[in-house]
Amino acid sequence: MVKYRISGTIETKLNPNFYYLRLRPEDKPITYSPSSTNAKPQPEEDNSVLEIYGKHSLKGQVKISGAKNSALAIMAGTLLCSEECRLTNVPQLVDIQRMGQILSAFGVKLQRQGEVLDLDTSNLHESNAPYELVSQLRASFFVIGAVLARLGTARIPLPGGCAIGARPVELHVRGLQTLGAHVEIEHGVVHAVVKGDRLKGAKIYLDYPSVGATETLMMAATLADGETIIDNAAQEPEVIDLANFCLAMGANIVGAGTKRIVINGVPKLHAVDYAIIPDRIEAGTFLVAGAITRSEITIAPVIPEHLIAAINKLQAIGVKVVSDTPDSLRVIPSYNLLGTDIETQPYPGFPTDMQAQFMALLTVSEGDSVVTETVFENRLRHVAELNRMGADIRVRGNNAIIRGVAHLSGAPVLATDLRASAALVIAGLAAEGKTIIQGLHHLDRGYDNLEGKLRQLGAKIQRTSGEVVQPVFTPTPYS
Ligand code: EPZ
Repeated sequence: MVKYRISGTIETKLNPNFYYLRLRPEDKPITYSPSSTNAKPQPEEDNSVLEIYGKHSLKGQVKISGAKNSALAIMAGTLLCSEECRLTNVPQLVDIQRMGQILSAFGVKLQRQGEVLDLDTSNLHESNAPYELVSQLRASFFVIGAVLARLGTARIPLPGGCAIGARPVELHVRGLQTLGAHVEIEHGVVHAVVKGDRLKGAKIYLDYPSVGATETLMMAATLADGETIIDNAAQEPEVIDLANFCLAMGANIVGAGTKRIVINGVPKLHAVDYAIIPDRIEAGTFLVAGAITRSEITIAPVIPEHLIAAINKLQAIGVKVVSDTPDSLRVIPSYNLLGTDIETQPYPGFPTDMQAQFMALLTVSEGDSVVTETVFENRLRHVAELNRMGADIRVRGNNAIIRGVAHLSGAPVLATDLRASAALVIAGLAAEGKTIIQGLHHLDRGYDNLEGKLRQLGAKIQRTSGEVVQPVFTPTPYS
């Protein structure tokens, strides 16, 4: 018999399948396979919704999970090594499950136990990734560099566009060609083959500091013959975390986190145990939740340096953020939120993955603000939903012009992508009355039990089946 640990309050009497139950099997490790049911991601047509009663202040401390965008790249990085690696602090997310399914399609044996993930990559019997899996997770395209370097050939479907943009991969492909791969794109599949027995080190200049292209090419160059220089590289903390993982496996990489990364290829890598860094975007989301509800909350573990751009903008809005310990941050609430302008940029600029959450905050900040999205061409879709909640936002090209309002009011809204769903949760926490959020498959891709963590901080939030149910608590909003 499998034992389950139930976290959260017991409210099974209302709706045993959906209400607050978060089941985390203990003792029984999860295994992944391309079609394994226990790893089957939540179907898009899942009707569960989040119900939020706003205007409740939060208090206490919240635990930040491992970084999604690090874990995904590092899971791909394990393909470079033919021994079993152990990753710890791995978040429980649908995207991680999907990457697990893709790796097992190549022949990787994965076992998960809580936040620990063991990946046995000793027997890769496949270099093709199935389209139906890649199309569900764009980041899975990043495996192409590692598979090509390890097996000498790779067939990876083009990931295609998504809610926030076209997501082209020409920088990945061009870089692999520069490393000596012969690449053909046919029928929506990128087929790459190494000329000779290994990729050859080379100088690569990226037209745009793409996170994914930097990660793909850094992984490919790790096993190449000779030196590779990636110029105009992405400097995101997740790129550094991937480089540190490869270094721990015996790679030779210098300069990760700067605009120039130098990789000297090595013939072979060895197994490691590696801990994923905390998720700076989840951390930033909680900082904004604290700010909009005028609450004093502490978040940990975090690497404060990774959040400088977001903290600077919170201070411009009038919200202080302090560090009581090296790995924590505390929000000091302010009752006067001021408008400010934000422009998303590659790291260390303001992260595009925090844009929607800050927009929600600026809707109730005094005066006008302009938010300019420069990284993705279609990442303002949350505007319409925030306006449904009483915000005053107009879009002009890639600019959103926000006029602060006194308050938001709860409404049924639809999440359109991962970070948009977080913005609607934040708006719901501040709104008068009840907000109902649909489209939770977006949220579950990138947030590990967001509603459970918020409830622990005192938020009135519940996931329901979408059927009409009576709330189990009486909302007493703060004035
Ligand atoms: C990573 O995506 C993150 N995803 C994204 O997080 C994040 O928004 C993005 O970096 C920027 O910080 C993961 O790490 C899994 P890019 P990635 O390549 O690598 C264009 C989230 O919410 N581009 O840096 O796909 C591209 O279209 C997600 O967690 C090309 O034109 O982003 C985009 O406009 C969303 N050609 C820009 O560059 C290419 O070959 C930035 O993309 C590659 C990219």
